[in-house]
Amino acid sequence: MCGIVGYIGDKKAVEFLIEGLTKLEYRGYDSAGIAVNCGLNIFVEKAVGRLDALKEKLKNREPEGNIGIGHTRWATHGRPSDSNAHPHTDCSGKFVVVHNGIIENYMALKEDLISRGHKFISETDTEVVPHLLEELYNGNFLESVQKVLNKIEGSYSLVFMSKDNPDTLICAKQDNPLVVGLGKGENFIASDIPAIISKTRDTYILNDGEIAVVKKDSVKIFNRKGEPVGKKIFHVSWNAEAAEKGGYEHFMLKEINEQPKAVRDTMSKRILKDDSAVILEELNWDKKFLDDINKIYIVACGTAYHAGLVGKFYIEKLARKLVEVDLASEYRYRDPIVDENTLVIVISQSGETSDTLAALKESKRLGAKTLAVTNVVGSSIAREAEFVIHTWAGPEIAVASTKAYTTQLILMFMLALYMAEIGKTISPERTKELIDLLKKIPAQISETLSDVDPIKTFARQYGFNEDVFYIGRSLDYDVALEGALKLKEISYIHAEAYASGELKHGTLALIVEGVPVIALATQKSVYEKTLSNIKEVKARDAVVIGIAAEGDTELEKYLDHVIFVPNTDELLIPLLAVVPLQLLAYYAAITRGCDVDKPRNLAKSVTVE
Ligand code: F6R
Repeated sequence: MCGIVGYIGDKKAVEFLIEGLTKLEYRGYDSAGIAVNCGLNIFVEKAVGRLDALKEKLKNREPEGNIGIGHTRWATHGRPSDSNAHPHTDCSGKFVVVHNGIIENYMALKEDLISRGHKFISETDTEVVPHLLEELYNGNFLESVQKVLNKIEGSYSLVFMSKDNPDTLICAKQDNPLVVGLGKGENFIASDIPAIISKTRDTYILNDGEIAVVKKDSVKIFNRKGEPVGKKIFHVSWNAEAAEKGGYEHFMLKEINEQPKAVRDTMSKRILKDDSAVILEELNWDKKFLDDINKIYIVACGTAYHAGLVGKFYIEKLARKLVEVDLASEYRYRDPIVDENTLVIVISQSGETSDTLAALKESKRLGAKTLAVTNVVGSSIAREAEFVIHTWAGPEIAVASTKAYTTQLILMFMLALYMAEIGKTISPERTKELIDLLKKIPAQISETLSDVDPIKTFARQYGFNEDVFYIGRSLDYDVALEGALKLKEISYIHAEAYASGELKHGTLALIVEGVPVIALATQKSVYEKTLSNIKEVKARDAVVIGIAAEGDTELEKYLDHVIFVPNTDELLIPLLAVVPLQLLAYYAAITRGCDVDKPRNLAKSVTVE
């Protein structure tokens, strides 16, 4: 995820900018840049790749100015490149901006600005911001920035620098973090606390809609209406390591908690204004394209494979196309029956998984149409595939995948709806109903995350069991597979997921007194059947923990423990049902003293076969 830093004071700005960006490297990035106001001009330097590449470019030509901004970019709009790296400038070079987030209406703004003669040099959404400032500048920096903010839609943390205002930085926040660090005769701006804690622990944490006017001796904060805001200083007591994790004990817990935002970001810009349709601009498919496809494969590994299983359900249910899901490591050696009428969808968080990449290459060789769903712009898989849609989860650092999974589910759902709209296999009313519910998911995930105490208690109670079973039918089974994988990989407990209907074909023999069974019962269409499977395990004296949708009054009659998730359409409930399973795995691993973020024998990106 992108990182932002800013400095204003008496020292050479570049020193803090590079130091602050270095502190943010852990967040992942693909390019970096700085801008320093040197009086006569604004010095800008950027470089694709690691910070060392930027440092190399700055060798023997470090700017002297005392006010500057810097950025590490995690590509979303436009591939990683020098020109797409931030800071971005207007035509005159007088206004410079760094940005985290997504400007949703940038296309319309860009077209308008181009028609007024502005010249764009990047593929980014951000570049519209300095050009807008140039267009709207009236001599008053703050007023002009407010006008810009009134024009843009989307999420942002933004820092503005202006050549003609060499004593001021202005920053603004909406849905992305931003903090102002308070020094003596100097002040700092950052997207994240680790960038500034070696300089100061006194900060203003900005809220959505707030704008800060930062000078070397003062910081003034205003709300959306331009009224001054009296803010309390937040004293940061975290050490550097805790600060990197945003105060959470582990990256995994931080990433679990980032899911509402990751999911919201992934949806954003992909829904028509009146909520009547999904738009996937990256694809631009039509009815003929879909009619020509007679077979769809989804190919992936691990958690991404589990997202693929849910994706199969979505596409078959909504778009009425037959889908096969395969493990990449199997598919590539299976001599798959694939030709130019096959669509192969590969899912990969990293975009670098060797088996998935090989499966993609093999599919291309056989003539298939290929689509990649990935979190990393410019990754090998993104470059190799004919079509790409990105999850916007931001970098995932913990080895165990969490926010990547939920964002993959969101994209698979949107892809299925998109295909259904084109193929006319869904009514406009049902589309609207599903989109309305989809938009509620981020808030519902937040709700699910707000009550973790019962989960912690179960983890403490059952964290020392050697075997745990997960059961469910339909989409609940797919989520059960993911829940079991999470538990296995970080707590080292032997966990298995079974389709509930399969129990009596073998597994029931393993269910004895005291064995924990996590039973998912969120799918209304198979609810009665699920309930009878739950009774089967309960009758063998298993300890059953149910996962149910709010409003379910039945399950509690049979079970001692039920975790409720908010109610929604049964297609969307996996996005909520997986959250308690992620948390259960996390707290079980904590109970057992495991290294949560770096489980034994596992690596984040599996680039070898
Ligand atoms: C599990 C996990 C792995 C990955 C798998 C694929 O928590 O993270 O199972 O899902 O290695 O990785 P990507 O998605 O990067 O291709």
